[in-house]
Amino acid sequence: TSEMADLWQNAMDHAVALARRAGEVVREALQDDRKVMTKSCSVDLVTQTDQKVEQLIIQSVKEKFPTHSFIGEESVAAGEACVLTDCPTWIVDPIDGTTNFVHAFPFVAVSIGFSVNRQMEFAVVYSCLEDKMYTARRGKGAFCNGEPLQVSGQEDIKQSIISTEFGSSRDPEAVEKIFLSLRSILCIPVHGVRGAGTAAINMCHVASGCVEAYYEVGIHVWDVAAGSLLVSEAGGVLMDVDGGAADLMSRRIVAANSRTIAERLVSEIHSFSPLRDDATP
Ligand code: IPD
Ligand code: CA
Ligand code: CA
Ligand code: CA
Repeated sequence: TSEMADLWQNAMDHAVALARRAGEVVREALQDDRKVMTKSCSVDLVTQTDQKVEQLIIQSVKEKFPTHSFIGEESVAAGEACVLTDCPTWIVDPIDGTTNFVHAFPFVAVSIGFSVNRQMEFAVVYSCLEDKMYTARRGKGAFCNGEPLQVSGQEDIKQSIISTEFGSSRDPEAVEKIFLSLRSILCIPVHGVRGAGTAAINMCHVASGCVEAYYEVGIHVWDVAAGSLLVSEAGGVLMDVDGGAADLMSRRIVAANSRTIAERLVSEIHSFSPLRDDATP
């Protein structure tokens, strides 16, 4: 209904304002010493800024939209459930690219996705250090700083750039699988392989057309919720790494400019490594 549409637009405007405010907090924190803590292992980093930004976003949304649900990375780390229901749900990654943030490597994003009936309704990804505000609304397109985005028209994987990440597992078997998938993709050969160090910005790159596809195993819903809508609204496709339908809760994703590239990528990943069984806990 149009009443719903107004409500979601209002929520989206709020998300944009919050992402901007969060971005200021991130930029200010970069001026100070960053106290680094670890979570699951020595390369799974978190800082007080991750926690502060998540609190800032969630507190503000709770005041304004008291009936809405949340999934936030640091709240889940603190013991909250990670279940996506039909309720209007804010899916928040306060800092996507914490390792980048710790090292001042200049790709750091605040990612806010909003789903209703488990369907993404709007997405906001703010690339704080580039000052790029990526936004998408279901059925209404994707934008960067207000300019419409369109995925690359490239249908030949040999003329493509593929993005992926190495994640935070250093388990030799998991690392081996990453290497095998990379070898297979590099040897197609593709023009290049990249990784910005943030799932959200990698997906913004697909939406913007400067990267043809991004894939990763081990991601969480907060890494890809907003990015997935940006990609689909920019004309791209989402797929599971096994070629099936994408599921934001499955911890695996392929986001591509086209079905052709996505399917070719999936077949290359699979010819070397059954990534499907590899979602790290
Ligand atoms: C991580 C980043 C990284 C990806 C990891 C994510 P975080 O998110 O998106 O690029 O490889 O899988 O966990 O921990 O910086 O929010
Ligand atoms: Ca993290
Ligand atoms: Ca993340
Ligand atoms: Ca994070």
